[in-house]
Amino acid sequence: MSAEKKVQSKDELRLKLDINNVFAEMIGEEHGMTVEELEEAKDRALTAHRNILEEEAEGKMGFMELPHNQREIVKELKETAEELKDKFDNFVVLGIGGSALGNIAVQTAINDPHYNLFEEARNGYPRLFVSDNVDPEGIKALLDKLDPKKTLFNVISKSGSTAETMSQFLLARKFVADAVGEDKVGEHFIATTSKDSGYLIEIAEREDMKKFFIPDNVGGRFSVLTPVGLLSAAMTGVDIEKLLEGAAYMDQICREADFWENPALVNGLIQYLAYKKGKVMSVMMPYSDRLRDVADWYRQLWAESLGKEVDRQGNTVNVGPTPIKALGATDQHSQAQLYMEGPFDKIITFLEVENFAEELEIPGAYEDLDGLGYLGGHSFAELINTEKWATELALNKRNRMNQTVKVPEVNEFTLGQLFYFFEFQTAVTGELLNINTFNQPGVELGKNYTYGIFGRDGYQTKKEEFDNSAEHKDDLIL
Ligand code: PA5
Repeated sequence: MSAEKKVQSKDELRLKLDINNVFAEMIGEEHGMTVEELEEAKDRALTAHRNILEEEAEGKMGFMELPHNQREIVKELKETAEELKDKFDNFVVLGIGGSALGNIAVQTAINDPHYNLFEEARNGYPRLFVSDNVDPEGIKALLDKLDPKKTLFNVISKSGSTAETMSQFLLARKFVADAVGEDKVGEHFIATTSKDSGYLIEIAEREDMKKFFIPDNVGGRFSVLTPVGLLSAAMTGVDIEKLLEGAAYMDQICREADFWENPALVNGLIQYLAYKKGKVMSVMMPYSDRLRDVADWYRQLWAESLGKEVDRQGNTVNVGPTPIKALGATDQHSQAQLYMEGPFDKIITFLEVENFAEELEIPGAYEDLDGLGYLGGHSFAELINTEKWATELALNKRNRMNQTVKVPEVNEFTLGQLFYFFEFQTAVTGELLNINTFNQPGVELGKNYTYGIFGRDGYQTKKEEFDNSAEHKDDLIL
């Protein structure tokens, strides 16, 4: 059963941000904001906006260029997908963090939930696996089931040296070489990496692999709209042009210099002010299975961009709201109790789908039983959104800040908007926090200790630090 109303035009597909429930009128004076407060802080947001646009002009905001400059490679990506989809049954992404989460979010949002299970769900495209961990059991369980001759691997690493990804690559390479011979290995791998640095590009050239490039000015968590996310999307039949169109449409909206006309600017400021008011947890709760992994992608974007030790002047600040992902209605029966009655430390962002592709009616039965008969005749689409409205109202009654991003329907165009909207909002909040949104020294410290402990040249001091770190006392291991 398809929903009767089919939304079509770009403007009808525009995301909308409903911020009613962050204001005192709805959630009470103690925990709510006032419009005056936002008006007072507006100038800071506008300065942040100007800074972002200035930095963009200096080439420092690579993510803002993507909806436009990545159109140049759409043709090549689509041709690659068309050429390879019949040669391979499986497409395996080897990547981690920003080199995996966007791929998963696109797949979940756009393709059939049982895409890998059923041929008819795939429309002739290969199965997709995203191998984003180094748990030996997970890797072995996957490789054991794949035919190496029918498997294409996409190794994604901007640095070209991440231990997790490169270890998986070494294993996958042997898996393929043992089956097809050394001379054909390159045909089973596509490298997505930096053009001029790192080992992956060197290997790709040596092995004659197909290559796609991640622009230098785009960091991992902002890279879903580069070949990082676009290639696996094209390989699974996603309309990547529409994804970029959606992002370009939102880019126009985010450039708007009128504060109240720019939802990403308004929301970037609201998130910042909420954080300053002690709402140090930022929950994203889609009421949609399709958008579940957008919340996972956003969790990394927000955490890695905004969690910083020092500000831009080098002062120790240790800032950053903690992102939490949840799923409605499922987590109403898991997390919602805490959101309603726990500490006043959260701001909740709902993602609400206005038109589901399926309405699906709940059949009527047991009309004589009051507590059951009322369900029949409604649809599941109505039910999931009613659950959301009910949760929203319950949060209001408990004085909890919440807001909603309304998604007219889930498709490539709205997904492109969502990615861009949250990326821009992150840049705004980062500006307001006066931190570098685009680095990740904490993640790199962890990576460097791994290199040191594993004996990589150039990281001996990290190994020494590890060897000299305080021993774990037996009596404290219980
Ligand atoms: O956002 C980031 O920069 C990180 O999450 C990276 O994407 C992640 O660490 C993987 O790095 P790389 O792509 O260099 O292998």
